[in-house]
Amino acid sequence: MRIVPIDTRSPSIHAIRDAADVLRQGGLVAFPTETVYGLGANALDPVAVERIYKAKGRPAYNPLIVHVVNRQAADRVVASWSDAAERLAKAFWPGPLTLVLPKRPIVPDGVTAGLPTVAVRVPAHPVAHALLAAADLPIAAPSANRSMMLSPTTGAHVAKSLGAEVDLLLDGGPTPVGIESTVIDLTREQPTLLRPGMISMARLEKVIGGPVVTVSAGASSGAPRPSPGMLERHYAPRARLVLAPHDQTRGLIVEMAAAGRRVGGLLIGPAPAHGVIVQQMPASADEYASRLFDALHQLDDAGVDIIVAEQVPDGPEWAGVRDRLERASR
Ligand code: TXA
Ligand code: MG
Repeated sequence: MRIVPIDTRSPSIHAIRDAADVLRQGGLVAFPTETVYGLGANALDPVAVERIYKAKGRPAYNPLIVHVVNRQAADRVVASWSDAAERLAKAFWPGPLTLVLPKRPIVPDGVTAGLPTVAVRVPAHPVAHALLAAADLPIAAPSANRSMMLSPTTGAHVAKSLGAEVDLLLDGGPTPVGIESTVIDLTREQPTLLRPGMISMARLEKVIGGPVVTVSAGASSGAPRPSPGMLERHYAPRARLVLAPHDQTRGLIVEMAAAGRRVGGLLIGPAPAHGVIVQQMPASADEYASRLFDALHQLDDAGVDIIVAEQVPDGPEWAGVRDRLERASR
């Protein structure tokens, strides 16, 4: 993998053209978005898209998100827009929101796992924007990590997780939002939240002017089926992760350390004892999300076998973070 450092505030046109050439030739480029790093390929080239699945070890039933430079470019892959879709795109693009919409035939089955729909978003990161503009292509890009592992929020995370299958990594440093985009499906009877992120349900409902429903894990017959690949253990560190209520976290850590376990803590607030490896997390949801994956990468790198994570507050602004912690603990 060639690693090219790139200045996020003013991306070198040289590096961007280089990366765009790699994409046009059917190669794989890892690049920063405002959420996490993506592993990109030309979304209209089935052979290139197949390479993404191979590089990640991703199961073929789990479809990819297609990134486009703006709302107009989304028309290359989207067949039709509902009123709600138009409103959401207008309100939140560019930004960390993915819309699931009816797809055009030009989108290969490999991108959508054979579904009649396509997940599409316009990223807000200057490097992603410049790359999409220079390549003049829709870019299919899942998170740039091995399947089921932690998502990457720095270039170093990508380099650690993926290898020679990736042609080029544009390393633009840490990504600001830190967890993956909110995904909403607009092809069902009611707008359906498939993955919570930093754009909350309440903000989506306000823009749509009506309710958004969620898919539940125990969906019975008749309930909307969850998106493929969305209910699995995911975003997982190598170490086992245990979620504990605030008042039990510190006691649990001390107990496990005393029992000789290599334990790490993911805490909002102070560490329970000296000598315990702790990632101290911010008390605001935005800042916590921005730090989450790097903190988990660091605990893994420190070689702990168990991570005790303090449960985060109940508020709606924490929904994305809660989801990632719950999945990591499965
Ligand atoms: O923030 C993000 O969304 C990042 C950056 C790179 O843009 N990308 C990302 O991709 O998180 P990935 O592949 O890790 O997650 C894509 C999710 C999958 O869980 C998949 O199930 C869902 O989007 N998805 C993709 N196409 C879909 C479709 N047609 N219908 C329903 N869900 C879909
Ligand atoms: Mg992912």
